Amino acid sequence: MDARLTHHARFGGCGAKIGPGDLSRALCGIDVPEGPNVIAGLKGFEDAGVYRISDDLALVQTVDFFTPVVNDPYRFGQVAAANALSDVYAMGATPITALNIVCFSPRKFDIAVLREILRGGVDKVREAGMSLLGGHSVDDEETKYGLSVTGLVHPERIVRNEGAKPGDLLILTKPLGTGILITAMKGNLVSRETEERLVTVMSALNRRASVVMLSAGAHAATDVTGFGLAGHLKEMIKEDLGVEVNARKLPYFPETAKLYDEGFLPSGLYKNKAFYTPFVEGEISGFLLDLLFDPQSSGGLLISLGEDSMDRFAHEASDSALDYWVIGRFMQEPVGKICVR
Ligand code: CO
Ligand code: CO
Repeated sequence: MDARLTHHARFGGCGAKIGPGDLSRALCGIDVPEGPNVIAGLKGFEDAGVYRISDDLALVQTVDFFTPVVNDPYRFGQVAAANALSDVYAMGATPITALNIVCFSPRKFDIAVLREILRGGVDKVREAGMSLLGGHSVDDEETKYGLSVTGLVHPERIVRNEGAKPGDLLILTKPLGTGILITAMKGNLVSRETEERLVTVMSALNRRASVVMLSAGAHAATDVTGFGLAGHLKEMIKEDLGVEVNARKLPYFPETAKLYDEGFLPSGLYKNKAFYTPFVEGEISGFLLDLLFDPQSSGGLLISLGEDSMDRFAHEASDSALDYWVIGRFMQEPVGKICVR
């Protein structure tokens, strides 16, 4: 073990979950303080922390930052901010304030690069109708950017990642494959067109998805990020439910299958696959199966919706120009399993 605290530490994902994340392992065994007003904290699996302020108001808090996923600093700022806001939207909450989190070396890059990253983030914060209150920067050779986000929600209107019912439809609001594409982009092997589409999708806020799921009465939701579709789906079923995924309905970016065949697999995909394979059943293999394990950056919402609410959802989605795909269905059994067909 390298005990130097200055050694590169990697943080990421959605808090201290029992998953392949380092933070969950590191926090294991530490008694975390939680008062009676904590609605969602480190002990749960929720996307963000929730703290009750009064009977009709709760605070939602989350933080997310990462290394550049695209070369253009402005677009990276947009993607990182959209990603950081996503956990608030996944809970059906409204983000109100943000703080910048910056790791940047002025010796390595011109300060104008940082300005572009921040401008991208600020534009997303503005689009979300929020206020930017400040931030903190650390001199670091490896650039990182993200936001700490605070939101508000009515304590009874929280959309949790648990709460799906057997028979519910499973809906996804962004295509998969960002991990594979980002890996291939590092070698300049992605067409200009696909790269543009990828950046547009990753920088899109999950706000519309959140509003649509709320008005359709979603039973549960989460966002698809580092643990991939399988990892985040597992959080929705835990040990109470099963889910069937129709592999042929999975949306993914053009070129992803080709790049997968050429071997552009992110290391997170292998990690997720090793961790979540015991929970996955079915005859599917190769690209469509591995798509379930591909770590997503600023992925879409994964929504559990009663079938009788589907018309309402479809109508609201079309009104707000929200893309979505019905990719499966929750089932009574087999509990704790993701059945891929
Ligand atoms: Co997160
Ligand atoms: Co999340």
